[in-house]
Amino acid sequence: MRMVDLIAKKRDGQELLTEEINFIIEGYTKDEIPDYQMSALAMAIYFQDMNERERADLTMAIVNSGDTIDLSDIEGVKVDKHSTGGVGDTTTLVLAPLVAALDIPVAKMSGRGLGHTGGTIDKLEAIAGFHVEISKEEFVNLVNKDKIAVIGQSGNLTPADKKLYALRDVTATVNSIPLIASSIMSKKIAAGADAIVLDVKTGAGAFMKTVEDAKELAHAMVSIGNNVGRKTMAVISDMSQPLGFAIGNSLEVKEAIDTLQGKGPKDLEQLCLALGSQMVFLANKASSLEEAEAMLKEVMTNGKALTKFKEFIANQGGDPSVVDHPEKLPQASYLIEVPAKQDGVVAEIVADEIGTAAMLLGAGRATKESTIDLAVGLMLNKKVGDSVKVGESLVTIHANRENVNDVIAKIYENIRIGDHSEPPVLIYGIV
Ligand code: URA
Ligand code: CA
Repeated sequence: MRMVDLIAKKRDGQELLTEEINFIIEGYTKDEIPDYQMSALAMAIYFQDMNERERADLTMAIVNSGDTIDLSDIEGVKVDKHSTGGVGDTTTLVLAPLVAALDIPVAKMSGRGLGHTGGTIDKLEAIAGFHVEISKEEFVNLVNKDKIAVIGQSGNLTPADKKLYALRDVTATVNSIPLIASSIMSKKIAAGADAIVLDVKTGAGAFMKTVEDAKELAHAMVSIGNNVGRKTMAVISDMSQPLGFAIGNSLEVKEAIDTLQGKGPKDLEQLCLALGSQMVFLANKASSLEEAEAMLKEVMTNGKALTKFKEFIANQGGDPSVVDHPEKLPQASYLIEVPAKQDGVVAEIVADEIGTAAMLLGAGRATKESTIDLAVGLMLNKKVGDSVKVGESLVTIHANRENVNDVIAKIYENIRIGDHSEPPVLIYGIV
């Protein structure tokens, strides 16, 4: 087999065979196929697309390029959730204890990563003592005993994806449905999930800017999952404005605590119930999404979800009293209000720009070397569709520096007040 012939085949719109896809990914992982040839193939895929079978084969070839996590020592169906990423997305912190409270195993491997706020691990580390440096044995034991644990990323998972994603980034080939779908799904499958629930976001703060593109990506990932024996479902959700009120690490832990008791922001609660229902359904604990949702609401009201969160924190060395005393979370030194300059209705809160404002305060990492300030961030006091009077606070800035004029300017530029506006649709569809 020669790479040049396979590039020509895809360029001319033909399908690649399973063994050809395996040859390409193995060769590229071992540096036997050079970047220039892989770039040409990525561009050919960008224009010619891949059929369902090719997408499934590509996903499994990427999975097989490195280590895979074996969760077979954990009893029950391991359902993992993945979000395509957004601003102030507190869903994982809520969903993990919420679903575990229904005796569904949540065995989460999580990362830190770049972004407007930290990853799930950074957020959890806002809780004094909490740590994810646990052994694989301890991880498995905790999930078997209490149904929930989080471990930091280890092992050489999907090296082909790391190389290919970096290459796509500099060759204008990121934005290809078969390449995005196989990249995301390979990572979930390598991390050991039996079933996968996807939150595909759309809007300014999302990777997929339009609902049509988000739907196409959701369908692509769901069919890959189902074709390789992982039951998969997806929710398509709005990310035109940030999710919930809190954007920042401590602030989001507090928001998760509220939401676990049914006292959180309505949009965050609604999305957690939609995603959680799919998780419960795929774990075979309910026979319909409606039944699953009722079960989740019950553990929010009867306190079991909150108790599970405390148990989870204590198991991993954290101080569970923060759940009843969230003021023990790291607190910022300065609280600064951003007042509305006119009467009206909030018409737009541009998610990604508001996320960047939180990052300016230190809530997220701009580069791998940046350190996060867990205390800082933004609390939205208004969301799209809310009416506002001049002088009322739009946002409360939680800062550890006195001068936040840069952040205030960014907030004013990206919150638009108009005459009338409706709250946006939160869930565009389920797949
Ligand atoms: N996120 C991923 O993990 N991979 C892609 O290709 C795009 C977004
Ligand atoms: Ca939030």
